[in-house]
Amino acid sequence: MTLLSVRALTKSFGGNAVVRGVSFDVAAGEVVALIGPNGAGKTTCFNMLNGQLQPDAGQIRLDGTNIAAWSPDRIWRLGVGRGFQIAATFGSMTVRDNVRTALISRNRTVWRFFRPAAHEFTREADALLDQVGLKHLAGQGCGTLAYGDLKRLELALAISNQPRLLLVDEPTAGMAPPERRAVMDLLLMLARNNSCAVLFTEHDTDAVFRTADRILVMADGALIAEGDATAIRANSRVRTAYLGE
Ligand SMILES: Nc1ncnc2c1ncn2[C@@H]1O[C@H](COP(=O)(O)OP(=O)(O)O)[C@@H](O)[C@H]1O
Ligand SMILES: [Mg+2]
Repeated sequence: MTLLSVRALTKSFGGNAVVRGVSFDVAAGEVVALIGPNGAGKTTCFNMLNGQLQPDAGQIRLDGTNIAAWSPDRIWRLGVGRGFQIAATFGSMTVRDNVRTALISRNRTVWRFFRPAAHEFTREADALLDQVGLKHLAGQGCGTLAYGDLKRLELALAISNQPRLLLVDEPTAGMAPPERRAVMDLLLMLARNNSCAVLFTEHDTDAVFRTADRILVMADGALIAEGDATAIRANSRVRTAYLGE
């Protein structure tokens, strides 16, 4: 079943067309990678999908609703999570309180007859921290977290809204290979366990080929290929444009 349907998405900056008629679908629960050289337009696509940038043209349908040019907050409430926003965490707060704050703010946006008690949020926060492997650090200040653990916390925050689609732009930037692998595995596990679709960008092609159900390749603002790891590895346009052959 199609969850996200992007059609003819287009964006220019000062006359420079950086996303040129991009169209693709993401199915419910599917893990899709968007790859391509630096400057290909990947982040610009993400910023349009989550509402931070308005497209010049094109459609972004989530479950049939065109969300193009909706506000980031409205898109988030519809179930599109954005992973890895370091600015969203508060250094002086404990890891648990950070997640609790996210849960409480999510709850405020939903009308409920009964408001859960404070300890309900604590329990839910701990369950989320358990999922991302941070339960043992729940009482620690966020400012003291190692980089990889901060990434895990950001993932917990991203899934706290129970998204149907998670957008993650370069989740492993700045990480050493073993940690990179662990975070990618975690992302995949969370997607499977929460039936959440994921669209991610990643420079490490090994991680991409290992993780993604399907791969979209962008170059110079346009999609140039789409397929599974085997098809993408064998695609001559991709090898020339991206894999450096
Ligand atoms: N706000 C902006 N204003 C002007 N040009 C931009 C802006 N954001 C991105 N660009 C340009 O758009 C192109 C695509 O950038 P980006 O989407 O970040 O690519 P990628 O994420 O694939 O590396 C680049 O040439 C970049 O310089
Ligand atoms: Mg980018």
